[in-house]
Order: sequence, then C-alpha cells, then structure tokens
Amino acid sequence: MRTRDAMSAAVRNTARRLHPLPIRIMHWINALAMIVMITSGWGIYDDDVIIRGFSFPGWLRLGEWAAPSLNYHFAGMWLLALNGLAYLTYGVVTGRFRERLLPIRLRDLVETVRDTLHLRIAHEDLTVYNAVQKVLYFVVIAAGVSQVVTGLAIWKPVQLSPLISLLGGFQSARVIHFIGMTVIVGFLLVHVLLSLLVPRTLWAMLAGGPRLKPSRTP
Ligand code: HEM
Repeated sequence: MRTRDAMSAAVRNTARRLHPLPIRIMHWINALAMIVMITSGWGIYDDDVIIRGFSFPGWLRLGEWAAPSLNYHFAGMWLLALNGLAYLTYGVVTGRFRERLLPIRLRDLVETVRDTLHLRIAHEDLTVYNAVQKVLYFVVIAAGVSQVVTGLAIWKPVQLSPLISLLGGFQSARVIHFIGMTVIVGFLLVHVLLSLLVPRTLWAMLAGGPRLKPSRTP
C-alpha cells in the first residue's frame, strides 16, 4: 500500500514538472532524429544539387555517398515521424500546446524583439515562454510536419501523385523540402545558442525543471 502511495506521489511529482519525462524523452529523440535527417539529407542532396555550385562538405554529411545517406535518411524518418506524432498527440491531449504556446500577442512579440536587440534576454521564469520563443516553436513544429509530408511525396511520387501535384510537381516538392531543412537548421543554431546562453533552460530540459503549480498542465 505504502509502495503504491509512494509510486503515485512520484508520478504526480513527475507530471508537475515544467518538462515532464515524456516531453524530455521525445525532445531528445527528436534532436537525434533531426540531426540524422539533416546530415544524411545533405549527403543525398550532394548527389543532385538544387543550387548549382553549392554542395555540403563531406565532414558534415552522414554517409559516404548517396546510397548510405539514403539508408540513414529512411531509418531516421521512422524515428522522426513516430516520435513527432507522439509529441503532437501529447501536446494536444494534455493541453500543453494551449498553455505553453498560446496566446501569442503582437505587443509581447514586439517587446521581446526590442529587448533581445538590446541584449536583454530575460528568462527569470522558465515556466513561461516569451512571445518569440512561442512563434519559433510553432514555426519549427510546422516545418517538421512539412518535412514529413514533402519527404513522403518525394519518396513515393507515383503513389502520392495527387500530393506531388498539390506541391507543384516533383522538383518543387524537393525545393520545399530543402527550404524546410534550412528553416530547421536556422532554428537549431539560434535554439542551441540560446540554451547555452541560458544554461538553466538546458538543465531543465534534461532534469525536468521547476515544479508547476497544481493547476498547470504538463
Ligand atoms: C540538439 C540540440 C538541442 C538543444 C540543446 C535543445 C535545447 C532545448 C531546451 C533547453 C529547451 C527548453 C527551452 C526553455 O525551456 O526555455 C528546448 C525546447 C524545445 N525544443 Fe529543443 N534543443 C535541441 C534540439 C531541438 C530540435 C532539433 C528541435 C526541433 C527541430 C527542437 C525543438 C524544441 C521545441 C519545440 C521545444 C519546446 C518543447 C515544449 O515545451 O513542448 N529542439 N530545447
């Protein structure tokens, strides 16, 4: 009985963390999957470049040449898509997205951009994302979904020909896929830099962070 009480108390405590265990697991799986997808994608891109004269250096690519890069890309794809689906479901079902990412007010956005330009990165309260963070998270989540959809279209262009048409043809789908990658890499550079500038946020994403008031959702 005591063990059960202790277990349910532990579960309650975990659920009241800023970043509950499922979020942390999914976040780091996503980070790994994204890195595999980006670097193997560069290996595939180099075989048939979109921007003439622009290719990625060998040391940045996962896979010696296109075929092994494709294998890594297809393996990472499942991890990215299934983990992403779990994250989206969790975010919607628990109300995390509503509470953590909404509302986004234009006034807050302008204020945060102004403060950031003056190098005032206020982050005393880790439990509240600022307006810029909210927008960036929305953009990167949308870019992740777009990558899976455009990726599926260029993987199976015949079976998914209506999707290819919707995207403006095979080459256009490829370009959208490339732009999505660029958005995610841009986000990643800023995101990692900010988490190093405010290491408390990084520690929170590893250990769970501060406990939330009972009324807050996970
Ligand atoms: C690999 C290096 C990465 C590091 C060091 C990192 C670090 C962090 C940290 C510290 C937070 C918490 C921010 C805060 O509480 O203020 C966070 C949240 C988040 N990160 Fe990352 N991250 C990485 C990769 C990624 C990637 C690849 C993506 C997506 C493409 C991503 C998307 C997100 C999202 C959407 C959140 C908000 C999660 C939520 O609250 O539901 N991260 N990350």
